[in-house]
Amino acid sequence: MINKIPAAEFAARRQRLLMQLPEGSAVLLPGAQMQPRNRDVDYPFRQDSDFYYLTGFDEPDAVLLLIRGEDSNQYLMFCQDRDPEMEIWHGYRTGPEGLVERYGVDRAWPVEQIDEILPTLIDGQQRLYFSIGDDEAFDGRMLDWLNTLKGRARQGAKAPTEMHQLNEILHEMRLFKSPHEQQIMRRAGELSAQAHIRAMQACRPGLYEYQLEAEIMHSFASEGCRQPAYPSIVGGGENACVLHYTENRDLLVDGDLVLIDAGIELDYFAGDITRTFPVGGVFGAEQRALYQLVLDAQQACIEATVPGARFNDIHELSVKILTRGLVELGLLNGDVEHLIAEGAYREFYMHRVSHWLGMDVHDVGEYQKDGLSRPLEPGMVLTIEPGLYVSPFNENVEARWRGIGIRIEDDVLVTAEGAEVLTASVPKQIADIEALMAAAQSR
Ligand code: GLY
Ligand code: MN
Ligand code: MN
Repeated sequence: MINKIPAAEFAARRQRLLMQLPEGSAVLLPGAQMQPRNRDVDYPFRQDSDFYYLTGFDEPDAVLLLIRGEDSNQYLMFCQDRDPEMEIWHGYRTGPEGLVERYGVDRAWPVEQIDEILPTLIDGQQRLYFSIGDDEAFDGRMLDWLNTLKGRARQGAKAPTEMHQLNEILHEMRLFKSPHEQQIMRRAGELSAQAHIRAMQACRPGLYEYQLEAEIMHSFASEGCRQPAYPSIVGGGENACVLHYTENRDLLVDGDLVLIDAGIELDYFAGDITRTFPVGGVFGAEQRALYQLVLDAQQACIEATVPGARFNDIHELSVKILTRGLVELGLLNGDVEHLIAEGAYREFYMHRVSHWLGMDVHDVGEYQKDGLSRPLEPGMVLTIEPGLYVSPFNENVEARWRGIGIRIEDDVLVTAEGAEVLTASVPKQIADIEALMAAAQSR
């Protein structure tokens, strides 16, 4: 079972990045820092995705410097120094020597020495690649280092004369998943699916939303993942109409639906699944009608996910199917084309059908190329997640529809032949969900 990216792939990523840059280029990338939560308590540490992508190193306060040299490339790093006193309180550190021994870094220094050493390392490099604007404090420090070099001009120092955005090159690389990355995302999809199945089986009226969340978290942790890819959404009844509902604190009521949007994070790759199912195990008439409409849209959009299809075409397909269905069910009135043109569907469908998926749940990568929506290519991973949400306050529809929120979300890898659904093993057909829940309730 492959759960980790091997060291050779990290090295290949660095090499691939540097070979796209001219000689005389330096790449500067800070890692993440600890974030305070409240007095003496920090949020769980999560390395910056770009930094992890290039290093596989997951300690806070590190800074990466890559040099594309004339003769050879250099892999340099600053990190927290070894410190027996601090390590007793906060955990063991790799330290600069450990980085050289265990991570293949050419040279490393304690991060406390960065102001002194970094200017000398970029002295004489013509171009600096850096994600300007991501971290204002770090931008300021970078300017200080450049000014340090300018101040040494008479001693022969030469600061880089060109600044380039690192994001574009790096994020284009991250958009295309290697065979190894695909394997991890396949597994992240499967483990996320298993967690959703467990929650469906455990669901009963009278549970609290956070108790269903606990089933999801138990499943993730059992597979070795303590942190989900994003805070899980467990919304019963009208809470499903709040798109980013994460309070998860209400009672689950018989007759309502519950929407769960949750995904595992496996070696820094995200799963992202949404399923919506009846708390009591059986769909009501209005729930069934709206659910089937969302499912029809989702399946059609998955079928349309093939190489060459444009990202935006898939969204427009979802809009068309959902608008037509809303008219048929009587939630919208009028001509379908006209309703689409005026955006009438947005009252019920206010998000897009898809986003890139990878190390970040809303992953990096351009959605447009040459001013047009981007054609899909093999190796890209995206979600397909149409939804319908009838606000409990919507006076334009009959009361029987109000408070129903439905989203169905799967993760899809674009392949040369078409697409592979990475999250297919969690049921979404009405009959399959009802059968799974009935079997679990009779146990
Ligand atoms: N879980 C976030 C999303 O579905 O976009
Ligand atoms: Mn999503
Ligand atoms: Mn989601």
